[in-house]
Amino acid sequence: MILVTGATGNVGYAVVERLVAEGQAVRAYSRHPEKKAFPAGVELVAGDMADTAAATRALRGVSSLFLVHTEGTATFWKQVLASEAQHVVFLSSGTVELPLETHIGRIHTETEAAISASPRTWSFLRPGAFMSNALRWAPGIRAEGIVRVPFPDAQSVPVDPRDLGDAAATMLMDPVRYAGARPFITGPEVLSTRQQVAILGAALGRAVGCIPNLWRRMLRYC
Ligand SMILES: NC(=O)c1ccc[n+]([C@@H]2O[C@H](COP(=O)([O-])OP(=O)(O)OC[C@H]3O[C@@H](n4cnc5c(N)ncnc54)[C@H](OP(=O)(O)O)[C@@H]3O)[C@@H](O)[C@H]2O)c1
Repeated sequence: MILVTGATGNVGYAVVERLVAEGQAVRAYSRHPEKKAFPAGVELVAGDMADTAAATRALRGVSSLFLVHTEGTATFWKQVLASEAQHVVFLSSGTVELPLETHIGRIHTETEAAISASPRTWSFLRPGAFMSNALRWAPGIRAEGIVRVPFPDAQSVPVDPRDLGDAAATMLMDPVRYAGARPFITGPEVLSTRQQVAILGAALGRAVGCIPNLWRRMLRYC
């Protein structure tokens, strides 16, 4: 049995789908698993990461798990150590490899350190920005046809969460091969936010603007 935490999320759901397609027995964990239509046969366990009773139920009979970072992940990890689960694939962040220290980098580094200090085997996915981050722009596009961001020309290499789901499922199904792997994963193309918005506009068949949000830009320097 493979446990997928964050199973209703962008990546977790993709992990579940891929594992089921590969014929694996899957249990999905999140606070509200009922909000997603999971493939037939997926077991659902509802619970917060910090809910030790629910975590114990979710981890029963589990050999490997997919772990996401949310509030309560540190508590959940203690339950993993008390369980029979032997291999963990942790959705970390590419920010752990940045030379400058960031809050996001620090929290993922702490979780990686706790996992790698344990007797369990592990694989870390270290992705850059997700394509699904663009969903945050939906209200602005609907309301005024405009995306407002601090730096429209800032570049990233956005990755499709479904590709991360495929990568995680592959690592979960072959723990021996992928033990200790920690790939930095990006999408296929360097894009500025302005270019991403242009792609969305073309897909939507309407003009969508991308303009600097000066207040947000100023707040970044406060
Ligand atoms: N976005 C990026 O660009 C980026 C880049 C690098 C790494 N990452 C990593 O990827 C993570 C986001 O992945 P994602 O997009 O798949 O996340 P997401 O779509 O926001 O999903 C989060 C999942 O966690 C569950 N969850 C949230 N709080 C919980 C709690 N307290 N207890 C139990 N479950 C909880 C949610 O389900 P319920 O609401 O049902 O509980 C949901 O299934 C980030 O946190 C970060 O660690 C993100």
